[in-house]
Order: sequence, then C-alpha cells, then structure tokens
Amino acid sequence: MQEIKITKTENSKLSELDFDNIPLGKIFTDHMFICDYENGEWQNPRIEPMHAIATHPATMALHYGQAIFEGMKATFNKDGMPLLFRPNKNAARINFSARRMGMPEFPEDLFIEGLKQVVSLDREWIPKKKGSAMYLRPFMYATEHFIGMRAATSYKFLIICSPAGPYFSERIKLYAEKKFIRAAHGGTGEAKAAGNYAAAILPTEKAKEKGYNQVLWLDAAEHKYIEEVGTMNIFFKINGKIVTPIRDGSILDGITRMSVIDLLRDKGFEVTERPITIDEIKEASENGTLEEAFGTGTAVGIAYIQEIGTEEGIIHVSNESPVAEAVNNTLNGIKIGEIEDTFGWMEAVE
Ligand SMILES: Cc1ncc(COP(=O)(O)O)c(C=O)c1O
Repeated sequence: MQEIKITKTENSKLSELDFDNIPLGKIFTDHMFICDYENGEWQNPRIEPMHAIATHPATMALHYGQAIFEGMKATFNKDGMPLLFRPNKNAARINFSARRMGMPEFPEDLFIEGLKQVVSLDREWIPKKKGSAMYLRPFMYATEHFIGMRAATSYKFLIICSPAGPYFSERIKLYAEKKFIRAAHGGTGEAKAAGNYAAAILPTEKAKEKGYNQVLWLDAAEHKYIEEVGTMNIFFKINGKIVTPIRDGSILDGITRMSVIDLLRDKGFEVTERPITIDEIKEASENGTLEEAFGTGTAVGIAYIQEIGTEEGIIHVSNESPVAEAVNNTLNGIKIGEIEDTFGWMEAVE
C-alpha cells in the first residue's frame, strides 16, 4: 500500500466549534484525505489541511456526472477510542458504484487506511455526547477537463469529515411517490451516484410541501412495489414477521439494512427479503396486522415510520415500535462499545 503523506494544519478551527450546537453538515474538520488518479493509477495519497479545490469549467464531473460517494460515521467508545462501523463494506460499495459509473476502483486498503488516519488526526472533532458522531464522506469525481461523452481519464478521491450532534429518532411520515421514480432496472439505483440524489430532490421537496419527511420510492415499471426511502432502506413487521424489499438491482445495498437483518435474525425474528407491494401494506394496516414500519440508514440509524401518504389516502402505522427500538438500541450500543460486538463489525482507530 502507498504511504500517506501528512501535512498538518497550523491553524486549527476546533476552538470555534460549539459542541452543544453543531449545525448538521456545515462544519468540516481541519484535515482531508486526497488522492489523484492520473495515467491509469492512483497516486500521491495525502492528508492536507481542509481547503477549497479550484475547478476548471470543463471539469467532466460537472457535465457528465461521474461522481459517487459514501456515508459513514466515527464514534467514540467509552475508553475514548474512535470506532468505525463496517468500513470494509463502504470500501466495497464505493467500488461497486465506481464500476457502474465507469470510474476506476479505489484500493480498499488505502480507503480504510485513509479513513483511519484522517479520523485519528481529527479525533478531537468527534462529539462525545451520546448519539453524536463524526460523519465521514468519502467521494470520487471526474477531474479531467474535457467536453465529450466518455469516461474521464483523471479523478480525485477524497475523505472529508463533519461532526454531527446527537440524533433522536423521531416518528416520520413518508409519501409513496407514483409520478416520479428514483431508479429503474438497468439504471444506477444500486450505485451511490450523485445523480440519483439530484433526481430525488424535486420529488422530495414536493413531498415536504405536503407535510411529509421523505419519499417512499416505488418501482419504475408499475409503481406498485416498495423499493426504499429517500436515504434509507425500509422494513415492515407484519403479523410477527419482518419483511424488507428484496435487492433486485435498483435499491441501495444499505449497510445498516444488512446489519439490521443480522441483528433481527440474532434476536430470533424471521426476516424475509421479498417483493412487497404498497397495496399489501395498506391491507395489513387496515386489517391490523401491520405492527411496525421503520427505515434504516447511516445518517439516522433507525427511523420509526408513523404513516405513509398515498394518492388514495393515508396508511397508518402503529405508534409503537418495540422491535425497531430494541434493534436501534443494540445497534447504537455496539457502535459505542457498550454492547459486545459479537459480529466483529467495529474497527478501532488506534
Ligand atoms: C438511497 C439510500 N438508500 C439507503 C441508504 C442506507 O444505506 P446505509 O445503511 O449504508 O447508510 C442510503 C444512505 O446511504 C441511501 O442514500
């Protein structure tokens, strides 16, 4: 693995951070990891003081959208050791995204080492309050200056970090979207590509205007099958059994999703990944068998779903989510080292 050159800042901004009032996504730590892809190889991995990068107007990412990203969190355990949650899964997923978007894969060992070194350097920025974390954003984009439709020949891979205050899981309302779609079979829905999120912005704004928190995406062909939520995968508990939409090529392979499936099975629940229609959920709500509905994702952990709005009316979900809450508590406990990590998910940053 290539050595990472470190240039430390001489001008830390840490003292400007009010840990009791952290605006989400707006504050960035002192350092960033950066690596360039030129002449067919990744080179010059380095950590530098956080700085802006000049953008040539013909930078290909701006025109053709070769841009992918990851989202993960660093937490402290009770002994003050920073922990990463399943970073190898993010390393693998960014390379899945890279392949789909015609971009070069990033070496997975360098991805993890870059994460560890930047988290270690900026460890003082990790908020200590329970439920807080430092959000980590690895991303890659095409940097070549060229007007023309083909894969770029140069890219940058970066990791930036942003402290995040405590998150309290609230009950959320979703709007089942039938006009707009997020992803179609053969499209880019399974990749964490920036363009997927761009396409989701207008429908999300419209859902918010109607009083909903996020969009519930349905399949592109029939608007019948449930896929996922804005930035979360989705689970239902129907008649004692847990179901979640099957990964069929158009939903994101959520790392929280795969972990929640393991935790639920470990707790003795039957979990089935299968196609789920919105009509089935409506019927279960009406006949009293829809016991819980919840979203899973890095940003929120687990979000309890209160209702789903549709063109035909509201699907009500029970106000209590005992199973989702139990899983959330276990997951959060593992992430801060309070519950034994029997799955071997946590990776310490020495
Ligand atoms: C579209 C979408 N689905 C699902 C998820 C949940 O994935 P993860 O649990 O890996 O954060 C995310 C968040 O990354 C997302 O953006």
